Amino acid sequence: MKRDPMKLFLWLLLVISDVLAFRKEKPVGERAVELMKKAPLIDGHNDLPLRLRILYQNRLSKINLKILNTTRTNIQKLQSGHVGAQFWSVYVICSAQNKDAVRLTLEQIDVVKRMCQSYPELELVNTSQGIADSKNIACLIGIEGGHSIDSSLATLRMYYDLGVRYMTLTHTCNTPWAESSSKQVHNFYPNLNGLTSFGKKVVMEMNRLGMMIDLSHTSDSTARMALQTSRAPVIFSHSSAFFVCNHPRNVPDDILQSLERNKGIVMVTFYTKVLACGRKVVNVTTVADHFDHIKKIAGSKSIGIGGDYDGVDQFPEGLEDVSKYPALIEELLRRGWTESELTGVLRENFLRVFKEVEKVRNDSRSMNENEDEIPQREVQNSCRLDLRNPPLRTSDTLPISFGSASVMCADSLTSLEFSKV
Ligand SMILES: *[C@@H]1O[C@H](CO)[C@@H](O)[C@H](O)[C@H]1NC(C)=O
Ligand SMILES: *[C@@H]1O[C@H](CO)[C@@H](O)[C@H](O)[C@H]1NC(C)=O
Ligand SMILES: *[C@@H]1O[C@H](CO)[C@@H](O)[C@H](O)[C@H]1NC(C)=O
Ligand SMILES: *[C@@H]1O[C@H](CO)[C@@H](O)[C@H](O)[C@H]1NC(C)=O
Ligand SMILES: [Zn+2]
Repeated sequence: MKRDPMKLFLWLLLVISDVLAFRKEKPVGERAVELMKKAPLIDGHNDLPLRLRILYQNRLSKINLKILNTTRTNIQKLQSGHVGAQFWSVYVICSAQNKDAVRLTLEQIDVVKRMCQSYPELELVNTSQGIADSKNIACLIGIEGGHSIDSSLATLRMYYDLGVRYMTLTHTCNTPWAESSSKQVHNFYPNLNGLTSFGKKVVMEMNRLGMMIDLSHTSDSTARMALQTSRAPVIFSHSSAFFVCNHPRNVPDDILQSLERNKGIVMVTFYTKVLACGRKVVNVTTVADHFDHIKKIAGSKSIGIGGDYDGVDQFPEGLEDVSKYPALIEELLRRGWTESELTGVLRENFLRVFKEVEKVRNDSRSMNENEDEIPQREVQNSCRLDLRNPPLRTSDTLPISFGSASVMCADSLTSLEFSKV
């Protein structure tokens, strides 16, 4: 059949004018919302569980999460923000390191699970496919701070079994095996530089398990060593660009370049303090400047979003709570970001990382669990039993206990930190 060139020409004209009219007619705000409906956001970091502990001692029975108004997060706002999946942070303060960190972490996992199981709008998932398939707001769990594993690979594995899918290697304190970007906030293990040999084992065990390695809050040297060690892409669940604001929580350009090679992502965060650096007004424009810079250095495929709502106390004008994400997408559309770049930022880039992490796990099936323990000298403290070196006993004493109990475990009065960066 022969085509009529005139007809084809007219048809093309029609299509082009349609597209142009469509562009002209749709205000950019509407385009942002339409895009987010098609590609709901996967956000890397939200601290609502911390608020639930501080404000309600984790008593979900006392609150209605749909309309809760003492926090920046509730279900209605998540829905108006077009959030399709949320990593809930199970964070415990650094002061719990070497004390109750594991119990407190388990309590935060408990509250996330109960919360996600008791509202039909939420759904607990633990795979990339689970996110893709969910018709609700998919809930995932991330541990914020390596102190939560108490230097134990067995504990790390049990967290995985409970559904934890990323761990931030440090919060604002060094662990015995990884250095934090925060100096002088806590005085744990002050002579550490980057990852120790046990720290590398943690990274490798996370690769084997299929748990994402989160480098937000870690020092640059920890981040560089983790990027060298990891066989899978890594994430920064809530960090921004050091070039735009030279705060130690942000990612410098050389690490952004390594991150691009690693095929990982930085999930840009909204905490005013790490965005501002002296700027008087911090608003959507400021956040978009961080996006533009990271795109310039590492490409749009290296970017996601990790708002850190309810983790800190100050947010930019126009991004005050979880319903406001469309304002950012609108600004990026205005700056010429394409819809396909933004679909990546909203969810596809994260899903790519998660799938690759799962593939590395699948390819590790022949590897055994790592049964190594951290050297005792690296974790000596008054609260830790030394199970391998029971105290010498005289022959007439029955060995009724195994391990030496601590005499004292001082410094147990601590209030919850409010602003945690
Ligand atoms: C917050 O919610 C409570 C209880 O649902 C309600 O009494 C109060 O008026 C609300 N406050 C605001 C500022 O909306
Ligand atoms: C992952 O989620 C599935 C589906 O909800 C559930 O059956 C399974 O037990 C979960 N696995 C883990 C390790 O949490
Ligand atoms: C953000 O603040 C700056 C400085 O006041 C202003 O020029 C800019 O228009 C603001 N951006 C938005 C999106 O309101
Ligand atoms: C990993 O293996 C599981 C179980 O066989 C399979 O369902 C999943 O699709 C695999 N994932 C990837 C990313 O290869
Ligand atoms: Zn944080």
